[in-house]
Amino acid sequence: MSTTQAAKSAKKAAEPTSGTLDIKDSRTGKNYSVPILEPGTEGDTTVRAMDLRQVKVESGEFGIMTYDPAFMNTASCKSAITFIDGDKGILRYRGYPIEQLAEDATFLEVAWLLRHGELPNQKEYDGWVRDITFHTYVHENIKSFLGGFRYNAHPMSMLCSSVAALSSFYPEAKNIQDPAEREISIVRLLAKLPTLAAFCFRHAKGLPFIYPDNDLGYVENFLSMVARMSEHKYEANPTFVKALEVLFILHADHEQNCSTSAVRAVGSSHVDPFSAIAAGIAALYGPLHGGANEAVLRMIQEIGDPKNVNSFIDDVKGGKGSRLMGFGHRVYKSYDPRAKIVKKLAYEIFEQVGMDKDLEIALKLEEAALSDEYFVSRKLYPNVDFYTGLIYRSMAFPTDYFTVLFAVARTAGWLAQWEEMLLDNEQKIARPRQIYIGPGERGYKSTVSNKFPRTRK
Ligand code: ACO
Repeated sequence: MSTTQAAKSAKKAAEPTSGTLDIKDSRTGKNYSVPILEPGTEGDTTVRAMDLRQVKVESGEFGIMTYDPAFMNTASCKSAITFIDGDKGILRYRGYPIEQLAEDATFLEVAWLLRHGELPNQKEYDGWVRDITFHTYVHENIKSFLGGFRYNAHPMSMLCSSVAALSSFYPEAKNIQDPAEREISIVRLLAKLPTLAAFCFRHAKGLPFIYPDNDLGYVENFLSMVARMSEHKYEANPTFVKALEVLFILHADHEQNCSTSAVRAVGSSHVDPFSAIAAGIAALYGPLHGGANEAVLRMIQEIGDPKNVNSFIDDVKGGKGSRLMGFGHRVYKSYDPRAKIVKKLAYEIFEQVGMDKDLEIALKLEEAALSDEYFVSRKLYPNVDFYTGLIYRSMAFPTDYFTVLFAVARTAGWLAQWEEMLLDNEQKIARPRQIYIGPGERGYKSTVSNKFPRTRK
């Protein structure tokens, strides 16, 4: 046994347990005792899936696997970053309730917290902000790279590709075991995401790219790169700055969701973090994940008028239309705590820029769904995306840009989760099993002739 294997076995033997799960295999009559691991901080009870491998009919057989499509009941890691209680509607980053962070923290403070586990002191915070501020510029070649996209390219495609392309500008980022390389890659990604996101926006509008203004804060600088025209210095609307800061905090992490799992899975191959984060952006692009707020707005536009809400709800229930976008969540089975904060934020923005014409439809939809047996019995409540789309639109962001804003914020969580995965000595390359249901072995006999066109007569 190698030293590492021995250390791992010793670690496993010492693992605290809180009881055993006794299993009887009716095929063999044999009994097995599987340790129940000591619960996590908030009481999660687990057994190790690998402990089931001993359950087998004959020695030499593979043993029992667990079958869990879409990971409905499988913990893929131990994490100390984010806690969610979906039934109680609780979300905490490193133990701090999301409501408190949204009220008082800054996004970069939260990004530090997610990564380091503790709030930064003044010196740490100042250094962190300074480092991120001074890495906001991207290589000039990125501009020509973005210029290759069609004018109507989806900004998420552009963002995903340009973040992946950054990997080629920083080849040393592949030295992921070196803490100094990890540090600079993390700083670069947090610093450059707003710049790339803003460049994608400007490309779609046919406007010149605006370089970062390092005198501005993270959110203000982003808005400046998005919206500045001929003015010497961009002055953002303070309500928009505050709203975006809060929305970035709300979206910064959400434990093992689809995109975070993608970042962890891709990162587990020990690829550089730029490539792993690009995988997260690709996952976030999907309409069942980060693309949902875009889908909410399209749905509201399709409904068109508050008087059509009830018939739309009937179509959703009858399976005739799409799902009610912005409703339902794999984890939250009560009101998404972020949705409460976002709804309040929406009213603050609308007070300033005027009521959004679609807000009435959104409110009526929410009211109708929350009092409808179909949605109540399935515990379908508004999720964070239900109101964010309306806020983004009142800030004049185009619909297909909403997910980009989500990606900028989520980069903080992806990076914290990526590094936690790398430093976890229980993790290996992600490699799920399958249950093969295809044909058994059969002999090859081709039914196609003329397979090599170049030899065609
Ligand atoms: N509208 C109507 N019915 C719904 C909805 C919805 N939005 N969501 C779930 N259901 C129904 C399903 O049809 C199913 O009904 P059934 O039991 O009669 O078949 C039941 O509720 C359970 O649905 P599942 O698909 O099993 O739930 P799951 O946890 O897998 O899905 C998801 C979660 C993907 C978020 C789903 O609720 C959905 O599609 N919502 C709309 C898209 C959306 O808003 N996504 C954003 C999620 S938040 C985020 O990623 C930031």
